[in-house]
Amino acid sequence: MPPAAPRPIEIVPSVLPADFAHLGDACIELEKAGVDRIQWDVMDGNFVPNLTFGADVIAATRPLVQLPYEAHLMVTEPTWILDTMVEAGCTTLIVHAEACQHLHRTLGQIRELGAAPAVALNPATPVAAVEHVLDLVEMVLVMTVNPGFGGQAYIATMEPKLAELRRLVVERGLDVDIEVDGGIGPSTISGAAGAGANVLVAGSSLFRDPDGLGHATAELRRLASEAQGR
Ligand code: DX5
Repeated sequence: MPPAAPRPIEIVPSVLPADFAHLGDACIELEKAGVDRIQWDVMDGNFVPNLTFGADVIAATRPLVQLPYEAHLMVTEPTWILDTMVEAGCTTLIVHAEACQHLHRTLGQIRELGAAPAVALNPATPVAAVEHVLDLVEMVLVMTVNPGFGGQAYIATMEPKLAELRRLVVERGLDVDIEVDGGIGPSTISGAAGAGANVLVAGSSLFRDPDGLGHATAELRRLASEAQGR
């Protein structure tokens, strides 16, 4: 089998650390900074011990930028929110394997709504949990923190899990991106990208860079590309 073509590196900001009083401005600044899409961390206070924003907030910013939006649904049994997330302008919907009683069906519902289905794995959840739905998704998100909050420490023991998932995707010749989220910054992105992630979500490390969002985005892209020998 020919070696799988490397997938494009994508730098994706989470707006979780942004100033919630100025989320529209943050989206405009992120677009200027050269990010590839924006991730909205939707938290329900049940699946994770935190509550963030819903479809109306996302929709309010939609006309301000051209960037694709993805919704990271940290929501228990998320079928009720799927259509409103698509109506708000999200083109990728990420549901947690742990939050869906009928994951296979839920991923199919996302596809029927015209959005790209994606599935997330918490740190304790094995790759095996998504083995039988890899044909339904365009992306798998491997969490490198326990979900609910930004600014947490990167869990490096997720790297073997990333490598296992990458092997599975390549062996099956699947057109699936591998995303990581949590604690991604200049000191951790090389390990994640080197283990197989090509879509890298960063929140704190982007917004805290003293040289600004553009510098942070370019630096993360450079490091991730280098880690994959590009
Ligand atoms: C956790 C969130 C965070 C956020 C980014 O539920 O999903 O991972 O996106 O956080 P940091 O600040 O770790 O990049």
